[in-house]
Amino acid sequence: MIRKLFTRVIVASQLPRNPFPGEMLPLERLRLFQWACQFQPKTVLEVGTGVGGSTFYLSMALQRWNGVLHSCDPVRQPPVGFLRRFSGTLVYHPWKSEQLIDHLLRTQSIPDMIFFDGPEIPELALQDLRKLEPFLAPGCMFAMHDWSQPGGRNSRIVSIKASQLRPYMEQTDKWTLVDLLHGHSKNVWWTKRGYDSVGLCLYRYAGGTSAMTAAA
Ligand SMILES: C[S@@+](CC[C@H](N)C(=O)[O-])C[C@H]1O[C@@H](n2cnc3c(N)ncnc32)[C@H](O)[C@@H]1O
Repeated sequence: MIRKLFTRVIVASQLPRNPFPGEMLPLERLRLFQWACQFQPKTVLEVGTGVGGSTFYLSMALQRWNGVLHSCDPVRQPPVGFLRRFSGTLVYHPWKSEQLIDHLLRTQSIPDMIFFDGPEIPELALQDLRKLEPFLAPGCMFAMHDWSQPGGRNSRIVSIKASQLRPYMEQTDKWTLVDLLHGHSKNVWWTKRGYDSVGLCLYRYAGGTSAMTAAA
């Protein structure tokens, strides 16, 4: 009872009210929103808009300092009222991630924050990030949902979308882990269920000189 109440209070006091549906758990939404507010990126790339769960919180944050969110999904999109509410902040592209990445590189709209929550294609996230890397400036933030791998204590974890990217991120010295919600353990005492995340990571790019800087 007290946990349920605490969850309601924290979420209601820290997160903007969201009348639209979405797929991330309350703690994950809260973290994503807090990270965006903390790092105040100017240009964000989101892969996997869905009906707009994560998109809503990224847009709410970016509105505060006139940032821009480029979000893509070739299959689903948020309702018209949602897109209207965030016009000027959110640019929704009905494209696959590789098409949006090519477009951003072509137009020199290099993201300083990236959020991946795309399809269950293991090699896609790795390919997409490796394509972006030469153009990123040090300090670029990277977050991904469904970061935890199947096979641990939480049997509800089935996603394989990070299965190739995660080992790369853990081995390379180009990226530094900043924060992590573990999908196989409880992250805060006050949530209702045993597990309150399916894994959500935050990394900071430490890589060398970006291709944009080098070309200048
Ligand atoms: C897990 S859902 C996203 C949920 C959303 N982020 C939220 O918080 O509610 C994954 C989405 O990726 C989309 N998708 C599928 N293939 C894609 C691709 N090649 N590029 C970008 N998005 C893709 C799917 O249509 C699906 O809506």
